[in-house]
Amino acid sequence: MARRYIVTGLFMMALSATAAQAREAPAPPPQVQPCVVCHGANGHGTAPLFPNLAAQQLEYLTMQMELFRSGERPSHIMNTLVRTMTDKDIKIAVEYYANLPRCE
Ligand code: HEC
Repeated sequence: MARRYIVTGLFMMALSATAAQAREAPAPPPQVQPCVVCHGANGHGTAPLFPNLAAQQLEYLTMQMELFRSGERPSHIMNTLVRTMTDKDIKIAVEYYANLPRCE
């Protein structure tokens, strides 16, 4: 009997975690999938050296992506990643991050 409550409890927790995630961040578009491992689906850097992007200014993010792509802003990781992105890919990715709620 007790086991059934535990199982039900765990199931409810899993459900509410999913609901909370859905509220916090819309499902990222395909252009954002490669970014999630470092910048998170919610725009919070997943490690101290990965910057938060949530709610950052759209113009700033766009400019940084262009600087990474041209190599004017050097970053081994970002230069390689952005090289194959089109202007449209960049627009979709940065709009997604700029529109997320600010990191606490
Ligand atoms: C493997 C980890 C990694 C991945 C994947 C990654 N980034 Fe980054 N990103 C970084 C790091 C590290 C920096 C800081 C670069 C530096 O040292 O200047 C950065 C910086 C940035 C910045 C500049 C932030 C600022 O405050 O100036 C933007 C914008 C950005 N990334 C967007 C993206 C987008 C969009 C994607 C997906 C297409 C992506 N990144 C994928 C690691 C990553």
